[in-house]
Amino acid sequence: MSTELQTYLSREGERVAAALDRSMEALPAAVAGPVRDAVRHGVTSGGKRLRPILCVTAYRACGGKASDDEALYDLAASLELIHAYSLMHDDLPCMDDADLRRGSPTTHRVHGEDATMVGGAALIPFAALRALQAALRLGCPDATARRVARTLVEAAGAGGMVGGQWLDLQGEGRSLRADELGVLHGMKTGALLTAGLTMGARAAGAEVAVDEALEEYGRAIGLAFQIADDILDATQSAEVLGKTPSDAELEKSTYVALHGLEGARTRAGEEVDAALVALRRSGLDAPILALLARYIVEREH
Ligand code: IPE
Ligand code: IPE
Ligand code: MG
Ligand code: MG
Ligand code: MG
Repeated sequence: MSTELQTYLSREGERVAAALDRSMEALPAAVAGPVRDAVRHGVTSGGKRLRPILCVTAYRACGGKASDDEALYDLAASLELIHAYSLMHDDLPCMDDADLRRGSPTTHRVHGEDATMVGGAALIPFAALRALQAALRLGCPDATARRVARTLVEAAGAGGMVGGQWLDLQGEGRSLRADELGVLHGMKTGALLTAGLTMGARAAGAEVAVDEALEEYGRAIGLAFQIADDILDATQSAEVLGKTPSDAELEKSTYVALHGLEGARTRAGEEVDAALVALRRSGLDAPILALLARYIVEREH
């Protein structure tokens, strides 16, 4: 990774972490006891914070001038609240039955399945509210703020991440076709990554053509990101990845299972190229987004 990107990711990651701490303070008091502990565990236990970082990067690239920086990062953090819940549920025994995440025991292993299930569910409407409130504080007109929050909710829902998670479970033990796997990956992973970009762009009042180009960039990096996740899963140890079990153990349909390692690497590279073409088409001056597209397939965890 270039030092420019490394510096950028660590600085932005810290700001996102601070916003997530603010979000935890704003959790309704009714979310208490083990449910609160489960939520804190899921939300504040690290990770690359990629979705919120895409949001603030797109916002700025589209000319957004936040007068209230906390509002911008609170908006971005709403994506991470959804992502955190998706992983809390993804690791549950009824889904991937995972014991390890980010190098530590998974949320349900520490706080129990009931609290993890309820805590994860509590994060969904909470994230939508945080997104709406943050967009308003950012100075977005009412209709824009609603649209920004709606972008998050649609990406998280049955037409996006949750729908993709269902296809993923249905694909266990089966060999999905390339087109089916593309849809699955696009929904379970691409939708939320794309939402990061379009929420930022829309909050900044980007023109339609720019918004569409960023959507295409997001589709491509989203697919590349999940192909890279499949490749890492097949090639790296649990210690390096900080997560178990492997896709092979779960008999998942993955790009590696479908195309082999080299074929999967080629497909990921093609998507990075497509992302860079879309980025050029956007006309944005956003070198960080170009670096991010490459980093997504070169990352080591
Ligand atoms: C893991 O996402 C789940 C996928 C969608 C592949 P990340 O790789 O972004 O996980 P963290 O947040 O950095 O741990
Ligand atoms: C999860 O995909 C995608 C989500 C929407 C949570 P995976 O099941 O491949 O994610 P990891 O490998 O457990 O992080
Ligand atoms: Mg899964
Ligand atoms: Mg999983
Ligand atoms: Mg995976």
